[in-house]
Amino acid sequence: MQRIRELDERYVASTYRRQPLTLVKGRGMFVEDIHGKSYLDFVGGIAVCSLGHCHPALTKAISAQAKKLMHVSNLYYIQQQAELAALLSHVVPKGINKFFFCNSGAEAIEGAFKLAIKHTRRQRIIAMQGSFHGRTAATVGATWKSSYREPFEAIIPKIFDFVPFDDLAAVERTMGEQTAAVIVEPVQGEGGVNVPSDDYLPGLQKLCDEHGVLLICDEVQTGMGRTGKWFACEHWGIEPDELTMAKALGGGFPIGCLGAGAEVMGSFTPGDHASTFGGNPLACAAAKAVIETMQKLKLPQRAAKIGEYFKTRLNELANKHGCVREVRGLGLMLAMELSTKQIADAALEKARERGFLVNCTADRVLRFVPPLIIERKHIDRLIETLDEIFSEVEK
Ligand SMILES: Cc1ncc(COP(=O)(O)O)c(C=O)c1O
Repeated sequence: MQRIRELDERYVASTYRRQPLTLVKGRGMFVEDIHGKSYLDFVGGIAVCSLGHCHPALTKAISAQAKKLMHVSNLYYIQQQAELAALLSHVVPKGINKFFFCNSGAEAIEGAFKLAIKHTRRQRIIAMQGSFHGRTAATVGATWKSSYREPFEAIIPKIFDFVPFDDLAAVERTMGEQTAAVIVEPVQGEGGVNVPSDDYLPGLQKLCDEHGVLLICDEVQTGMGRTGKWFACEHWGIEPDELTMAKALGGGFPIGCLGAGAEVMGSFTPGDHASTFGGNPLACAAAKAVIETMQKLKLPQRAAKIGEYFKTRLNELANKHGCVREVRGLGLMLAMELSTKQIADAALEKARERGFLVNCTADRVLRFVPPLIIERKHIDRLIETLDEIFSEVEK
């Protein structure tokens, strides 16, 4: 552990605040550190490892493809890419049937902005307060936290209008002749797992339709079954014009994807957009295995059911402990807002010491985005431990 820490501090860019932990192995719901200590994982690489760690179907697909063909240029037809696109077309919301593949969430969203601007021939994008869309120049521009944006103002496009999340009137006031798109996370992730009111997303879709504005649903975190449906926007029955995916799509193998209807995607013509690695055989073989396994195990339905149980159990803690302000979320994207950042930090550390990985976002919100294969017994173990921890910190 000490050697890894020294190497990291000496040679790796210090862009991450790391916890004192080196994880070297994983299986299902568990990861193991360099000293052989095991942890129940409620972070899942931040909503990435939906099949759990090293699921045999995913490992097998990656190994088989690695032996056959890892990479070829998009100058040629790619079997796994075409098959993945066809498979995706069956699980995405209605109206989305063409796909552009890339390597990350931010890259998918950059593509979504370019496509919206080219398609509508307009220049501005409405984004939400509390949003997170990535760290590249355009996506950090659409990200709400000013400390992420301000040092880099010089390279950030000045095309974003921010409005409060869950406020339709503000969107209506802000939409203008130059508005190309509205980008929204159906449930805000980094912003603290914020679920909007029931009329918000349908209202947003109506406003966009009335003004010829494209609705971009950023489902990088909420997608792939996380919230109990394949895509979170389905909870409100909406059909976005553009859909962005990444994180769980490859189950741990890097892949991102922008989806749109044929007419909108048709505004991209050869040369408009590209990515060397985007949609290569290895990444697409991984994503195909993820989707097929999710279908086989009915993981979105499972996330809905077990997520309800998890939320009920978190609410029991909220009723018992004064330090818990609120429990919120959908499916297996759940959060517990605590009264202070100090309590959240202490809870995180104590949980880790007791063998549980939990994430904290928006200063004092414990976020739970575990693999979708989680079982009740894992949830019960976490609840028991959090119960003890909250009793200790409240003393
Ligand atoms: C909603 C959302 N959009 C975009 C991103 C950026 O994705 P990536 O880190 O793969 O670029 C994230 C990452 O956390 C996210 O949660």
